[in-house]
Amino acid sequence: MKKVLLAGNWKMHKTLSEVKAYFEKFLKDLETIDLSAKEIMIAPPFTALAYSRKLTEGSPIKLGAQNACWEEKGAFTGEVSPLMLKELGVEYVIVGHSERRHIFGETNELVGKRAEGVFRFGLTPILCVGETLEERQQNKTLEVIKSQLEAGLNGIKEVGGRDLVIAYEPVWAIGTGITATPEQAEEVHGFIRDFLSGLYGKEKAETIRILYGGSVTPENIESLIKQPNIDGVLVGGASLDPDKFLKICAVA
Ligand code: G3P
Repeated sequence: MKKVLLAGNWKMHKTLSEVKAYFEKFLKDLETIDLSAKEIMIAPPFTALAYSRKLTEGSPIKLGAQNACWEEKGAFTGEVSPLMLKELGVEYVIVGHSERRHIFGETNELVGKRAEGVFRFGLTPILCVGETLEERQQNKTLEVIKSQLEAGLNGIKEVGGRDLVIAYEPVWAIGTGITATPEQAEEVHGFIRDFLSGLYGKEKAETIRILYGGSVTPENIESLIKQPNIDGVLVGGASLDPDKFLKICAVA
């Protein structure tokens, strides 16, 4: 059964003492939720991964990283390898987040290298795609998504029995309080599903989770998750607050 994936991306937030306080609260409240059809993932900054693993050991929480290099080791100052992440108990790695693309200049090709590397090391990439407001206004949304998917999945020729996740995050909805309407999101998610069918076959494409991200809150989660091609969410701001993230996990 395809479980809904509820993923929190903490971005560059939380010191270790804040991490401790968060999990103390979140883990306790999480016991009140039926998780049989849900998977919960949190991606703290690199500096908090080991500590987060320690605090969540034995709990249903899966650990994610916010980026990764494609090599095992070497002269890549500032980078972290998939192998190093695996050793820490990381299972998911976000690649191509719009902040990596727009603030740090990561290209479609670079994102593709990261996704391939993460996959090769046995971790699950969460490949982020999304258009800017300008691109949407120029009716280029699907064209942009297509080229991001083509380059981003270029190195992953076959998925086999492995897991792969795509996150649709319209840039204009990230951290703005403006959420894509469920219909806007579903249109792009349907397009992504068709693209995946073309690449990996219909049966496999159905098993690949496509998340929506961009100003997800406890208030709007219900209408988003009802859409046939929305298989989960990638939450930024609201995942920083244990109460809000718990509500999202409970309602989804
Ligand atoms: O990766 C999650 C993200 O970019 C959305 O952020 O704050 O709009 O939920 P936010």
